[in-house]
Amino acid sequence: MHTLIFATNNQNKVNEIQSLVGSDFSIIALKEAGIDIDIPEPHETLQENAAEKANTIFNLTNQNCFSEDTGLEIESLQGAPGVKSARYAGEGRDFQANIDKVLNCLADHNNRNAQFRTVICLIWGNDQDGIQTYYFEGICKGHIATEMHGEKGFGYDPIFIPEGATKSFAQMTMEEKNKYSHRQKAVTQLFEFLRSK
Ligand code: IMP
Repeated sequence: MHTLIFATNNQNKVNEIQSLVGSDFSIIALKEAGIDIDIPEPHETLQENAAEKANTIFNLTNQNCFSEDTGLEIESLQGAPGVKSARYAGEGRDFQANIDKVLNCLADHNNRNAQFRTVICLIWGNDQDGIQTYYFEGICKGHIATEMHGEKGFGYDPIFIPEGATKSFAQMTMEEKNKYSHRQKAVTQLFEFLRSK
């Protein structure tokens, strides 16, 4: 079994990814790895932030690890909140305040198209290839609802309706969300890659 550290403190992300991983991988979140740090996300792209998180944990542990950074990209807002999704309404990283700000910004727009985009950064070493960095991307297209729906999930889930669905991510079970989700698409590529190694 391969063990991989997942460089996150977000238990929702851990649960979603854990439910996608077969028994051939063991995913350890930072807490379980005994690492208690809040890794900054100072960059202008999801890729750079993901790399920052993975590099920080690799430098601390010298173990194979991956991180992910996700942004909600809204067409009418020129891709905002994007890489700033966690702090859209301020440093408090408050889910409700972020949602309220999105709904306010979109109040006068007919185009509510949006997508979630996840970038995974993997730092992986073996005898053959040495230590390498790899990236995987997953996109889920959809639109922003005019009001919140549902109680499940986290972050912007109550206002995001994926293409092909009639309900928000927050009205779906984790298994239903995984059928559509950006994170699932990126994670699937990550594990296909790892299984090919
Ligand atoms: P980060 O990847 O943890 O920096 O997340 C950026 C922001 O997007 C945070 O406010 C998260 O709550 C939100 N977010 C990330 N993934 C999802 C998702 O799958 N659904 C809804 N919101 C998400």
